[in-house]
Amino acid sequence: MTSTEQGRRKYDELADRYEEIFPYVAEVGKLLVEHASPPSGARLLDVGAGRGAVARAALSLGCTVTAVDASQGMVERLACDFPDIEARQMDAGALAFPDASFDVVAAGFVIQVLPDPDVALAEAHRVLVPGGTIALSLEKQSVGRLRWLYELAAEYFGTPVPSDNDEDNGAVSSAQLDALLQAADFTNLATIPVEMPVSLANPPALWDWLTPRGLAEAVNALPAEQAESFRNRFLTQAETMQSNDGIALDFRATLHKAQKPCGQPASI
Ligand SMILES: C[S@@+](CC[C@H](N)C(=O)[O-])C[C@H]1O[C@@H](n2cnc3c(N)ncnc32)[C@H](O)[C@@H]1O
Repeated sequence: MTSTEQGRRKYDELADRYEEIFPYVAEVGKLLVEHASPPSGARLLDVGAGRGAVARAALSLGCTVTAVDASQGMVERLACDFPDIEARQMDAGALAFPDASFDVVAAGFVIQVLPDPDVALAEAHRVLVPGGTIALSLEKQSVGRLRWLYELAAEYFGTPVPSDNDEDNGAVSSAQLDALLQAADFTNLATIPVEMPVSLANPPALWDWLTPRGLAEAVNALPAEQAESFRNRFLTQAETMQSNDGIALDFRATLHKAQKPCGQPASI
């Protein structure tokens, strides 16, 4: 199975409960669309749309929305939940749209899960009109209260424990994303930070929240006995974070926007 197929299957499995497991995405989708500030009637493409956090916000601002996702499960839910948008199964790296078809291309928390983010950015550039806007959100994974998890992972998987100050230890840092945007010939870059508390109900909810972030693949690759031991120790440690209000985490992200320069041919 290729990593792309694995990714598709993972999001197919998450589709029904996606916005329950990740309750902050709706708010960040709204902030991302506000950051892009599309005029009413703008043609907006939501790439890796998931359950429609970005598409929903764009619709409410009067945009004409097209949403694509690699996961058939996500696309089926999008089509059902948002009859006013065109929802299609599609790869971010091979958009089946003509050059200069959209005024805005947005992708919420997608760049970090792509094997070739530069290819997706080149495709976004191609389908944008000159002067069009790209808007992307990026999660910042900080160690914070989860230091015990990094230490547990170091024990089982041999992965390094990042320093407390290392907030950009995700697959793509915000500086790397800016560099990728510039390399893809976008200009007028503007980035803003987002910070919000996230409260998860209990240790199994923390497990659900973390496993799609690469933990599932690592645990599944362990022999069954070790995988069970890892999960048990995870749940015991997570218990120590539990208070009456659940498990509190600080969620951080950055919102990036940039423009395709005006006056260029649609395809370069
Ligand atoms: C972290 S989720 C974000 C969903 C949504 N944008 C949000 O903000 O809630 C990533 C989404 O990207 C999709 N995805 C992953 N790889 C993709 C690819 N190569 N092309 C298109 N979509 C992809 C996944 O199926 C998933 O729905």
